Amino acid sequence: MVEAITQEAEDIKSFVLASASGGELPRYSPGAHIDINVGPGVVRQYSLCGSPGDRSRYMIGVKREPQSRGGSEHMHARIRIGDRLEISVPKNNFELDETAKHSILLAGGIGITPLIAMADRLLLSGKSFALHYFSRSPQHTAFSERLSQPGFAGKVHMHYALDVDAVRAELENLLQIYGVDSHLYLCGPKPFMDMIETVAARSWPSEAVHLEYFSGAALEGPTSSFEVRLARTGGSYLVPDDRSIMEVLQENGVDVDYSCEQGVCGTCVTDVLEGEPDHRDLFLKPAERAANTKMCLCVSRAKSLVLVLDM
Ligand code: FES
Repeated sequence: MVEAITQEAEDIKSFVLASASGGELPRYSPGAHIDINVGPGVVRQYSLCGSPGDRSRYMIGVKREPQSRGGSEHMHARIRIGDRLEISVPKNNFELDETAKHSILLAGGIGITPLIAMADRLLLSGKSFALHYFSRSPQHTAFSERLSQPGFAGKVHMHYALDVDAVRAELENLLQIYGVDSHLYLCGPKPFMDMIETVAARSWPSEAVHLEYFSGAALEGPTSSFEVRLARTGGSYLVPDDRSIMEVLQENGVDVDYSCEQGVCGTCVTDVLEGEPDHRDLFLKPAERAANTKMCLCVSRAKSLVLVLDM
């Protein structure tokens, strides 16, 4: 049940959720998200940005996106205190390594949501960290008051209204030296994440860099038709160049678990038994892509003429 709604910044609201039947909510770790059923057939992921130790409530931050496909617009315009929402248990694809000597958290815009939960945990456990929050202006900056608490002094750094070159210069300065046992966490819009990955790749090992996209920007590429065969149920379907595997399977009555439909959440990941996927998602790790033994059915396609799935 929605317990509180706060306008945190221009276009950003936080929603505090408590169990409708009372009692404790499932435990979660920093970086976790929940799926929220925001309307018929519309499921969206929101990072939990409250204090991970608080089992009495969850907090999410939602930015109203101008090109909303129904999720953020619905949350901003329709959801009121007292409304009931159907949510999933917390899932975490963006785990914090709490054994690290030092952690650098880089947030772009609404990407602050999972990182503020990480900052809270690191502060509480007395670990060394720095949070850098890149935002258009103070008016567009969520959770300013929380981030101004004395404990965060010297650890939280705000960067306002930087142009692309200034952001790159700041990142080059921040990431030029990789300290052994340091970990880097990034969340924000895709161009921001791409820039960080490029800069970090010069000196940071890939296993020390952790990222989470908060919205999809499925990788582009040429599309052509191919055949999908289901090994367990025996079906065989043609996927035309303008349809996704998931759409074709759903149209044919095949049940596919899905959530984001943007290649970011991993709900639709399915084992591949034969054929070569053309990965277009942002969820699988480079080694998983290279292995070609699983794929995201919502956005990825095939390089081979036939794909055989373990379904
Ligand atoms: S449904 Fe989220 S990755 Fe496919």
